Amino acid sequence: MAVAGKLSFVAIAVLIAAISIPISADPDMLQDVCVADLNNAVKMNGFACLPSFTASDFFFGGLAKPGLTNNSLGSAVTPANVMQIPGLNTLGVSMARIDFAPGGLNPPHTHPRASEILFLLSGQLDVGFITTANVLVTMTIYEGQIFTFPKGLVHFQQNNGNVPAVAISGLNSQNPGVQVIAKSLFAATPPVSDNVLAVAFQIDTQEVDEIKSKLAA
Ligand SMILES: *[C@@H]1O[C@H](CO)[C@@H](O)[C@H](O)[C@H]1NC(C)=O
Repeated sequence: MAVAGKLSFVAIAVLIAAISIPISADPDMLQDVCVADLNNAVKMNGFACLPSFTASDFFFGGLAKPGLTNNSLGSAVTPANVMQIPGLNTLGVSMARIDFAPGGLNPPHTHPRASEILFLLSGQLDVGFITTANVLVTMTIYEGQIFTFPKGLVHFQQNNGNVPAVAISGLNSQNPGVQVIAKSLFAATPPVSDNVLAVAFQIDTQEVDEIKSKLAA
């Protein structure tokens, strides 16, 4: 009886693992197209489908121009996901363009719903991701090269060159989501308490407030 119980527990565990593999990415399509009705009040996992569509629902010209990098980070991400391209609804893919000034940083962040494959169009970048065992996996990449960031892991890119750099990323979600670590902890609304951050980072609350005021600016 005990053995049978253990076996059925194992069987259930295997079944759960098998089921959770296909649903760990965006769900698969049940129809040719489902152009997002972005304004529909009905919210679901993805968007409701518009009754009709045109070619322009599958088009976006916004990656042709560089993003403005004259900001405190020296970088700009221009997304091309379901919010810009309603035709991406249910397709499970999206892109982004990332521009970097010399020294510019796309700061540590995660995409909760997507892995990322980055193609460096020009310049050079120091890239890295950090595993859940806190191992930093990092290297420098050059024009024409690719680096990959696994789903959900903290990662970053920095332009270590003295000319601008431009990268194009592909992501396996129509809506990868982005959580920028510094901003989510130090610029949340309402704010995460000073004490939580002071203990977490082993610093005093004055230092917490200093970081908060810089990131709010
Ligand atoms: C960045 O540059 C653009 C275009 O040159 C300009 O319109 C904008 O005001 C600048 N922004 C900052 C924060 O300097």
